[in-house]
Amino acid sequence: MRDKPLMVIAGVVVLVAAAVAFVAGEKLGHGKAGSHAMVGMPASAAPPSTAEPAPHGQQIDALRRGIPISEEGPPPPMARVENTDIRRNRAYPMQPPTIPHAIDNYQIDRNSNRCLLCHARANADKFQAPPVSVTHYMDRNDQFLATISPRRYFCNQCHVVQTDAKPLVANTFKDIDAVLSESKGN
Ligand code: HEC
Ligand code: HEC
Repeated sequence: MRDKPLMVIAGVVVLVAAAVAFVAGEKLGHGKAGSHAMVGMPASAAPPSTAEPAPHGQQIDALRRGIPISEEGPPPPMARVENTDIRRNRAYPMQPPTIPHAIDNYQIDRNSNRCLLCHARANADKFQAPPVSVTHYMDRNDQFLATISPRRYFCNQCHVVQTDAKPLVANTFKDIDAVLSESKGN
């Protein structure tokens, strides 16, 4: 065993390298976690656990309703889907209109698209449904396709049913008509 001392030295070198890598990793890891914590929650914003939950629309962590991260709150009642056939106004021209009817069990997958049964151009007259607009036939290069564009195939990506849910987050959005009439008043 002429090489024995050599092997011992090699072993020691490997161990030392591993230890250095471990310590460096620990340091880096903690450094990162620390900086995330700084970004995620400034010390002043920690929610006081005894306080009453702020009412809807007046808090930042609206989805948790002010409940500390270590506790599980009672689930809010589920919103009721409105099935009234009454269209809601759009807040701006390119807003996907909300769906004025229930869509329970309307299947959308690779083989079938229940929405298009009524909303495709070819069937719209039969069901008296508004046909999807021309944008739904355009690909991302603005070329018009013969059938619905793949990027508009999964309707629920953009269109949502109308519900009686209260807004979770406060919002002071004004539509363009409100802005224009205000500026006229001045
Ligand atoms: C059985 C036929 C039928 C099916 C299926 C159907 N719709 Fe409708 N949809 C209608 C009709 C009719 C209207 C017109 C308003 C009304 O009568 O409710 C309408 C209205 C709409 C509107 C409002 C358009 C506007 O200009 O305000 C949207 C958006 C919509 N549907 C999306 C969908 C989506 C998404 C699906 C699938 C999840 C779907 N619809 C499935 C018949 C249908
Ligand atoms: C990527 C988002 C997106 C997807 C996916 C999408 N839509 Fe739309 N849709 C819109 C937008 C935005 C508008 C309003 C502006 C416009 O007409 O392009 C609209 C408008 C509509 C309208 C009203 C048309 C009109 O002339 O007023 C209907 C009906 C509709 N969509 C149905 C559907 C159906 C059915 C599907 C699924 C096959 C679908 N949409 C998929 C974004 C989308």
